[in-house]
Amino acid sequence: MKFFIDTAAVDDIREMVETGLLDGVTTNPSLIAKSGRDFIEVISEICDIVEGPVSAEVAATDAVEMIAEGRKLSAIADNVAVKLPLTMDGLKACRTLSDDGTSVNVTLCFSAAQAILAAKAGATFISPFVGRLDDIGQDGMHLIEDIRVIYDNYEEFGGTQILVASIRSPGHVIEAAKLGADVCTVPPSVIHQLVKHPLTDKGLAAFLADWEKTGQSILGDS
Ligand code: E4P
Repeated sequence: MKFFIDTAAVDDIREMVETGLLDGVTTNPSLIAKSGRDFIEVISEICDIVEGPVSAEVAATDAVEMIAEGRKLSAIADNVAVKLPLTMDGLKACRTLSDDGTSVNVTLCFSAAQAILAAKAGATFISPFVGRLDDIGQDGMHLIEDIRVIYDNYEEFGGTQILVASIRSPGHVIEAAKLGADVCTVPPSVIHQLVKHPLTDKGLAAFLADWEKTGQSILGDS
């Protein structure tokens, strides 16, 4: 499973790149607004730091303008994935941009029917928002399960990767992996939760205390 970070905060992205765990980045207009940065400038900077796909979302709502914005965004760097909303215009723009060879992430997916249409429109990624479904009392992970089954039924849907978005907890990441999702995009706060376990901290403290008692040093004086 690929692991993306869901942020436009360059410092958080750099920190993750250093771990060697990062496969890509997703942003959205809210995350760009939160960064306080110029959109084109920050996407360009992120693309320089990260080798994998960097999703940059259009702001237009009609297909012709979405295509124009998408072409401008994809010209920033080879690894830009143009993010389009799951509307009829978004699907039209997806078909055109995908036919151009542009990587497209179809976002704001909340149903399996929408995911079928995105795959038919040639999306590189489909982004179902699990947390936002949970927020309204539905089961976000059930949607991932449905999309996985449907995509696996049809060879022609094989080019569309399931990118689990709106992740709120480590549990979402584990469930996504169990269901065979292709990608998880994870906010920085949840990435830090993923690595932590109280028994790891407790066990390490005990090992270090016992090691201290041995008076030894692995590197010695060298
Ligand atoms: C994904 O690409 C979106 O940017 C993101 O996951 C949305 O998450 P939210 O529901 O926490 O805003």
